[in-house]
Amino acid sequence: MFIFALMAKPRTIFFCSSCGASSPKWLGKCPHCGEWNTFQEEIIQKETVSEEKRKSWAPAGPNGKSEAPKAVLLQQVETGRTVRLAAPDQELNRVLGGGIVPGSLVLIGGQPGIGKSTLLLQVAMKTPAKILYISGEESEEQIKMRADRVGEFKSECYILTETNTTKILQQAQELQPQLMIVDSIQTMSTPHLDSAPGGIAQVRECAGELLRFAKETNIPIFLIGHINKEGDIAGPKLLEHIVDCVLQFEGDRHNTYRILRTLKNRFGSTDEMGIYEMQSAGLREVSNPSELLLSQKDEELSGCAVAATMEGMRPMLIETQALVSKAVFGTPQRSATGFDMRRLSMLLAVLEKRCGYFFSINDVFLNLAGGIRVDDPAIDLAIVVSLISSLMDVSIPSNVCFAGEVGLSGEIRAVQRVEQRITEADRLGFKEIYVSKYGMKGIDPKRYGIRIQTLGKVEELKSALFV
Ligand code: TYD
Ligand code: MG
Repeated sequence: MFIFALMAKPRTIFFCSSCGASSPKWLGKCPHCGEWNTFQEEIIQKETVSEEKRKSWAPAGPNGKSEAPKAVLLQQVETGRTVRLAAPDQELNRVLGGGIVPGSLVLIGGQPGIGKSTLLLQVAMKTPAKILYISGEESEEQIKMRADRVGEFKSECYILTETNTTKILQQAQELQPQLMIVDSIQTMSTPHLDSAPGGIAQVRECAGELLRFAKETNIPIFLIGHINKEGDIAGPKLLEHIVDCVLQFEGDRHNTYRILRTLKNRFGSTDEMGIYEMQSAGLREVSNPSELLLSQKDEELSGCAVAATMEGMRPMLIETQALVSKAVFGTPQRSATGFDMRRLSMLLAVLEKRCGYFFSINDVFLNLAGGIRVDDPAIDLAIVVSLISSLMDVSIPSNVCFAGEVGLSGEIRAVQRVEQRITEADRLGFKEIYVSKYGMKGIDPKRYGIRIQTLGKVEELKSALFV
């Protein structure tokens, strides 16, 4: 009986792949996050902890003194010593809140083939510093082939193809790089656990080891993480809690634009975004997105309207396109690319109820140019205009743009940073901008070359544009 208890037997635990909660038994529904069918079995083997060790607060050092680090007074902590490492491109710098913070752990998630490895290889090649690029996915030759496509080296870039975190960290300790890149966290494994790489226990443990290394050595580390079909970073949502920043690299695979968004940032704002274009020689920064997101066309077509939106601190003019046509089948179709479907339904309902435009017998398709997704509510007004424009088959002049949020009672609400939107539209040569009349406080229309039209309700669009 006693001998049996001492025998090491593989211990398994069930982890929720959504939130990382653990349970000794399989459960159909996770009691923590409420997701169904997310529990997966993982083998973990922990060293048996002696009763002595469990009393971890007992002083362990010589003469009974603790060796633990001393707590310090927060007022006495010196600041201003942190110098951020400038990333080679302004888009990444902006997204990180002004450069790479020493000792930070940054996770970049994205679908396969979107360009995560390319982005970070460019960082590794172009940041003038000593960089260690660790790949668990590709061989040295494959990485070199990509590097040849991307351009010339400005850095001292070392490649290590290894998946064992202990060996990686030994090598990193020896090399003392100024930046480390791990491609990808799902391929890494730690020898302390028996479970397979990519499993929740492994990912968590490896991320934890890398985090400790980053904090102790002050070397910033970029992690690449895969995302699953639902768009979450594969397996562990808990990875998002461990790291300092979570960036998401997204875009339509059939489109060349890629967007880098901040989902979490301990050192900066989370509503920044960077735009890139995937070219045959790597990713190019797009510093002036509006000029690309406006389609160049000569004729004025119905169903198009330009929205003056903001992404983070950056104004961006985007073309919205709508197609409204007679439904062939009984139930009319609704489809939206780059815009929330429920919000589209709401706008259609507002137009029916407040303005008497009937969409219920029509199919409605909505598309934003460039494969971009917009969450800024100021895009509502342009969408409403493009919908009416397509329904009535009346075109809107291409030098007119819109910025306003539409409320449930059809009122046009003020949006933030109107001035910046107006300035950007003016700079790009627009002649007229429609904004909410409630957001004009402190704005002098005479200062701009662009004509500013104000609206209070969606009904007013009828007389302004569709007579
Ligand atoms: P990759 O960085 O391997 O994606 P991820 O690491 O996110 O899986 O990018 C792969 C895609 O990028 C691939 O479809 C080819 C394309 N690509 C270019 O178009 N130009 C280039 O210069 C490079 C290196 C890749
Ligand atoms: Mg890759």
